[in-house]
Amino acid sequence: MSARHVDTAQIETNQPEADALVLFGATGDLAKRKLFPSLYRLEKDGALHVPVIGVARSDWTDDDFRMHARESIEQHVDDVDGATIDALCERLDLVQGDYSDAATWNELSDLLDSHDSCVAVFYMAIPPSLFPMVAEKLQSVDLHTRGRIVVEKPFGRDYASAVELNETLHSVFAEDHIFRIDHYLGKEAVEDLLVFRFANTLIEPVWNRNYVRSVQVTMAETIGVEGRGSFYDSVGAIRDVLQNHLLQVVSLLAMEPPAGADAGFLQDEKAKVIAAMRPIDCTAMVRGQYVGYRDEPGVEEDSDVETFVAARLEIDSWRWAGVPWYVRVGKGLAESATEAVVELREPPRMLFDEAGGPPPGRNLIRLRLGKNDGVTFVLQAKTPGPQMDSEDIDVDVDFAAAFGERQDAYQRLLGDALRGSLRRFARQDVVEGTWRVVQPALDDPGPVLPYFRETWGPAEADSILVNNDTWYPPSKPAS
Ligand code: BG6
Repeated sequence: MSARHVDTAQIETNQPEADALVLFGATGDLAKRKLFPSLYRLEKDGALHVPVIGVARSDWTDDDFRMHARESIEQHVDDVDGATIDALCERLDLVQGDYSDAATWNELSDLLDSHDSCVAVFYMAIPPSLFPMVAEKLQSVDLHTRGRIVVEKPFGRDYASAVELNETLHSVFAEDHIFRIDHYLGKEAVEDLLVFRFANTLIEPVWNRNYVRSVQVTMAETIGVEGRGSFYDSVGAIRDVLQNHLLQVVSLLAMEPPAGADAGFLQDEKAKVIAAMRPIDCTAMVRGQYVGYRDEPGVEEDSDVETFVAARLEIDSWRWAGVPWYVRVGKGLAESATEAVVELREPPRMLFDEAGGPPPGRNLIRLRLGKNDGVTFVLQAKTPGPQMDSEDIDVDVDFAAAFGERQDAYQRLLGDALRGSLRRFARQDVVEGTWRVVQPALDDPGPVLPYFRETWGPAEADSILVNNDTWYPPSKPAS
């Protein structure tokens, strides 16, 4: 299966500012946990200027909807400010009705007219199975010409369905009107990977197969499926996070420098490096399931869905040929952390390897991308004393200490969608490319191995390591 050619020349990465936001699935879980808190933060920063129209099947009044938004914000935001919530609630309206009913769409269209809206953002916080219907219904009332859509992940269930979904959406919206959201792309620390690599002369010369021995990216969560059992059991870790969040991170770590600052050049480089990635070799992949998962509400009692996966990836490029890229993701693990560890090769001669002393460790660059984001360089320094021995020392920075509070990923992405900036959204060829990489793991997943919670997954995950490599536990943040 080779990468599909996508004509990207016509894609406009900056578009007019939106004058309305329409939330499909406005009474659902995503809206509650992420979207209302983000809208609140935008309102608080003075960055929200548009009416917000919820669309949902729930039998609610406008007031019920406003109360729901208020409660969601109070639950998920610390130190809420009543005046800001009031201002946000003033913007909210609800269109209540079935998505298959023409009356729902006429009412939505009339409401947008009443706000003189010409450029709406249609946010699909709904199950993916409804995306095609909603896109077609928008077209039926001619709203597709008056806005753009934001589509939540998972974008498809595999390569073929992602291609099909793209074709369906393209029959209604142009590519530059489809904002495929991956909230990892809204994280400051993930975006910093580009700055770290391409704004520091120190880094780029060693960022290749000549100096890098291996790269590992871990996304570990201590939590289980937390009430999302039936959703999770229909996706599993490969579709939930490996195909999207993890491969987006790998692409930022592995890609070539973009030809220029324009967002299209960034997407081009991501697409190229993903095209150079070999489809997962299932003999270099281990799936696991935490003990107790099958007892979670909504999970099948004989489920073989994975809550953990570890795989060794290969990137067939001049820069990375022969370098193992290990990825592992899981729920119910020993710690919550997202971290990339770049392990450098040993120096060509070991001068400080005295008999009886410990062998010098390897240099590591640890990029913390989760809550405690930051960077740690693990370097060698002389151990005090008469011997020329060396030991690991950490040179690290904690981004929260360096920069203070930064915007939440959903707030940034919602702001981008309203402003019309595609930079932090996923392009069609990149998304299809990532499905191409994981497809063998979906076709031939092999057994799922049990592991206990609060561990690092099944011990068999070690079997995918080559060259005597080991998994690095995530580092602790700088104190
Ligand atoms: C979501 C997944 O996309 O990302 C969840 O569906 C996962 O299963 C979450 O828990 C993790 O996001 P974060 O930002 O907490 O690392």
